[in-house]
Amino acid sequence: MPGGFDYRLPAVRSLRSPTAFRDLAPSTASFRDAVLAGLRRTSKQLSCKFLYDERGSQLFEAICDLDEYYPFRAETDLLRRHAAGIAAALGPGCQLIEFGAGATVKIRLLLAALERPSAYVPVDISGDHLRQAAAALAADYPGLPVIAVCADYTRRFPLPDLAPGAGRRVGLFLGSTIGNFSAPEAIAFLATAAEQLQGGGMLVGVDLKKDPAVLDAAYNDAKGVTAAFILNLLTRINRELDGSFDLANFAYVGAYNADAGRVEMFIESRRDQVVRVAGQPIRFRSGERVHVENSHKYSVAEFRALAAHAGFRPENVWTDAMNLFSLHYLAAP
Ligand code: AVI
Repeated sequence: MPGGFDYRLPAVRSLRSPTAFRDLAPSTASFRDAVLAGLRRTSKQLSCKFLYDERGSQLFEAICDLDEYYPFRAETDLLRRHAAGIAAALGPGCQLIEFGAGATVKIRLLLAALERPSAYVPVDISGDHLRQAAAALAADYPGLPVIAVCADYTRRFPLPDLAPGAGRRVGLFLGSTIGNFSAPEAIAFLATAAEQLQGGGMLVGVDLKKDPAVLDAAYNDAKGVTAAFILNLLTRINRELDGSFDLANFAYVGAYNADAGRVEMFIESRRDQVVRVAGQPIRFRSGERVHVENSHKYSVAEFRALAAHAGFRPENVWTDAMNLFSLHYLAAP
């Protein structure tokens, strides 16, 4: 189970209150400690949650626009096509809690179909991006309370305590971000969410297993946007932790590992070199890799079993004709 934070969140008093912003972002010190610990390991690794600084969030949006990156389009099409069925599963008057809220295209599709949603709580680690997206959404839906929470949702965090009558809680975890967790992490995250949702439900977008050639193209796009997205982590370390990475000396490597059922993404050193991070020397051998991200792919049955393991009752599943992507509605215990 993810570890907890020791802060308390004030209750949001009125559902008629305008947009609110709760800043529970992790400190720079925790970023530095995690980066140094990851780079000192025998098999170097950095968490993919650090990819989303302002520039990283923009680059991820650019990935979603790529022809090769099918997940965004496939999920958006499913939301559009099955809006009525999804709205019926989520129910009237629900409060929507979106984990990892990025661009607001998908939530807008849902809001158009839902019956009287009572509040929208976007949760994201990228503060500036979240603030802008929440403000834009609140401007377009003046009657909808929007309470943005800047937090690392891979750890337990307090949800805003809405006034009585705010409706059942429904979590949204879209974009197949669940695939960026290992199976034990995914189960731990879902188990915590199941508790937080207090008998409500959760809509989860999950990328499906498919022809490895399709996956290779999606994670090795011709324009190099995925490479820029992953290598931007080094730029972030240079800026925030006084790092000395020369990006010309590193390359992006992404490949599907069929045995593990996941795309694995790395930063590879092109030469023997020493880089300084927060005043500490870090040695790289030529060809040595830093494991930055995994993107797990599931069959429908595999994901339903995983969700059940976390305590949810898997209910509806929507998939597209090409079996690229799936949307699952899970009932919380
Ligand atoms: C956010 N997440 C679901 C993306 C994925 O497909 O795993 C992140 C990504 N990394 C490279 N391309 C996209």
